[in-house]
This record gives sequence, C-alpha cells and structure tokens, in this order.
Amino acid sequence: MSTRAYHLHELEIARSLDDSRRVMPQLTSQHRRVLDLGCGAGQTLIASDLPGEISAVGVDVDFDALLLGQELAAPLALVNGAAEGLPFAAGAFDLVIARVVLPFVPIRPALAEIGRVLRSGGELWALLHPPRRTWRSLRAATQARDTRQMLHQTYVLANGSLFHLSGAVIPSPASGRYESFQTAHGMIRELQRAGLSNVIVQRARHHTVLTAVKR
Ligand SMILES: C[S@@+](CC[C@H](N)C(=O)[O-])C[C@H]1O[C@@H](n2cnc3c(N)ncnc32)[C@H](O)[C@@H]1O
Repeated sequence: MSTRAYHLHELEIARSLDDSRRVMPQLTSQHRRVLDLGCGAGQTLIASDLPGEISAVGVDVDFDALLLGQELAAPLALVNGAAEGLPFAAGAFDLVIARVVLPFVPIRPALAEIGRVLRSGGELWALLHPPRRTWRSLRAATQARDTRQMLHQTYVLANGSLFHLSGAVIPSPASGRYESFQTAHGMIRELQRAGLSNVIVQRARHHTVLTAVKR
C-alpha cells in the first residue's frame, strides 16, 4: 500500500465509528491545545471533528503526507518537523497524541520532546506496537519465505528487545529508518526519565494504548 493510500485508509477507519480497528484518543474539555505527533495526513485530527475552541496542530516528517492533509482539510494546522526536535515552545500543549509514531522514531529523544512541550499535568496518548505484533509478522514472513521481510522483522525484534533492556533503538542497517516494538516495562522507564508518570497501559490483540501525565 502506498503512503497516500495508507493515510486515506486510516482516515476511513477513523471516521467509521463501528469499525473494530478504530482506536482513537478521547478528548475532554482539559485538552484545549492538542499536538498530533506523526500525524501523517492529519487523519486523527480530521476524524475527531474538533470543536472550534480547541487549537490543534499536526507535525510529521513526511511533507507529502502533510500536503495530502491540506488537500483533505485545508484549515488544519500542519507542520513539517521531527519528533526528536519539535518546533514548539515548552509547555505549549495540554495533550500530545502519538498514534503509531513511537514505533518509527528514536524513542528516548522523542519522549524527551513530548515531555518538554507538554504543560505540567498535560497528557500523552500513544498507540504502540506490542512485541507479539512483531512475532506475528516474523512468522508470516517465514511462512511466505519472504527473505527481505524476515530480515526486517528480525531487526525489529532485536530493536524492540534493545529498547526493552536499555531504552536505546538503532536505525535499520538496510533502510536507515527506525522501527521497534515497545514493551510496557521499557515505556514506563523511559516515560519516567522524560518527566511523565501515572502511566496506564491497555493491551489489545493488535496494539497497546498507553496514557501518561507530565509531572
Ligand atoms: C504509521 S504512520 C501513523 C500516522 C497517523 N498518526 C495514524 O495514526 O494514522 C507513522 C507516521 O509517523 C511519521 N514519522 C516517522 N518518523 C517520524 C519522525 N521522526 N518525526 C515525526 N513523524 C515521523 C511518518 O511520516 C508517518 O506519517
């Protein structure tokens, strides 16, 4: 699936209230300034249909995804930037949404930035990749004798284990991009380090939802 098709597909799911694949953050009146980190085309913000008093901004490294977002919802505030160096002031947000972005970034620097841009008492909502997802992908690649995927999923497995043990992740030697799974143990330790606590982890079959609060 192309990146464009992926974002459009995710938007369709996010808009379908009865789709079992729909996993979205719950916004409350406390969340007046919202950052969607790794927003893609802004599908999470678009489908959340936010009331006017909420100021929301999406940030992503992928300029083409942001252009698609502008096509889909012109008034949406979208910024080109990286999770590990966010172009926002300290304490600028009440809520950071990190929907399936932490699996693809250097997690420790990204969490440090999330901790910096959240106000004290502000919240993180994150959708993560659990280890069993990588095991499943590795098994599928092995059964399909897809050598490239087998090597990639072996890298993801090693990287997720490294994250679990040390908090570090390394880029793929083949693509130069990051991918890992995230364990609750690793996340709680790294969130603590970034100044977030009150961590709640909800495990589902294909994903993990985590929330935390900036101290
Ligand atoms: C799996 S997509 C998730 C998109 C959207 N959040 C969603 O839930 O549908 C991961 C997104 O993270 C973005 N991304 C990857 N590395 C990033 C980085 N270092 N900083 C910011 N965004 C990044 C990608 O460009 C992509 O749009």
